[in-house]
Amino acid sequence: MPEALLEMRDVSKTFAAPGRQVHAARSVSLALNAGRTLALVGESGSGKTTCARLIMREYAPDSGELLFRGAPIDASSHRNMRAYRQAVQMIFQDPFASLNPAHTIGYHLGRPLRLYGHGRSRAERQAAIAALLEQVKLDPELVGRFPHELSGGQRQRISIARALAVGPEVLVADEPTSMLDVSVRLGILNLLNDMKRGLGLAVLYITHDIATARYVAEDIMVMYAGQVVEWGPTESVLGQPAHPYTRLLLSAVPDPDRPYSAGVGVGAELADIDRIRREAAAPQPLAEEVHPGHFVRPIPARV
Ligand SMILES: Nc1ncnc2c1ncn2[C@@H]1O[C@H](COP(=O)(O)OP(=O)(O)OP(=O)(O)O)[C@@H](O)[C@H]1O
Ligand SMILES: [Mg+2]
Repeated sequence: MPEALLEMRDVSKTFAAPGRQVHAARSVSLALNAGRTLALVGESGSGKTTCARLIMREYAPDSGELLFRGAPIDASSHRNMRAYRQAVQMIFQDPFASLNPAHTIGYHLGRPLRLYGHGRSRAERQAAIAALLEQVKLDPELVGRFPHELSGGQRQRISIARALAVGPEVLVADEPTSMLDVSVRLGILNLLNDMKRGLGLAVLYITHDIATARYVAEDIMVMYAGQVVEWGPTESVLGQPAHPYTRLLLSAVPDPDRPYSAGVGVGAELADIDRIRREAAAPQPLAEEVHPGHFVRPIPARV
């Protein structure tokens, strides 16, 4: 495999909550590669957004490091950080909150173009805005409209266009479809696939919906209680899930290709799964490779 564009190496982040510590990310390692999507799946509170925020440098890691093109990110260098912020763009869950109601679509797309020096003249910028709207399959006529005049799906396309405006290499999409009407979700996922294939972007797709991971992601990581419990090629992980928590997630998904028995036996393992959470501060067991490139972290032994 070629050198990863972006890597998290053994990154941990702990938050202080009243009376306890929340291990939101425990020694998380992941790699994002050009032209590929990595899905990060897990239940609410498992640490997915924490990973996204660590990548976006909204949080500094307690330990571990982030590498961009193989080099540690130098937070003390303004130039370095600006280049990183340009290269790594985020799409948020809520397309309603992420656009300013007081500004037109043209403003939202023109601003990043201006800030990052794409399109020097006004005419150049207008052409670039029209091209961005076409890229996300929206009518260029929308340029003068305000966010409230657009549907949720259209707004999410604008968020994607805004991310593309700066010419990113990595896209972090945190639950990009969960607030959208079911009927428009597939369109957004198709768009992410287009960006990956057409522009060669590296995509981190965060979701609690393991079924959609199969549709967009070559690789998948399953998170539970701040830990990555299973990871590898999507086909292998979803086809031959080795961790009880992965099986639990899959058992909740109606899938015509999988026998219903996929979830059978999970009940007996629930107590084991729960132990991962309760022993969140204990050292993690080493991962085992169960199929080529497909790893699982064994559940800590009962004490
Ligand atoms: N800024 C913060 N301060 C304190 N605790 C936090 C903070 N951010 C996250 N947490 C805690 O860290 C844990 C992981 O949260 P995170 O938002 O990463 O989960 P998530 O997997 O994105 O969940 P969801 O699917 O609900 O978005 C949770 O217990 C959460 O309460
Ligand atoms: Mg989240």
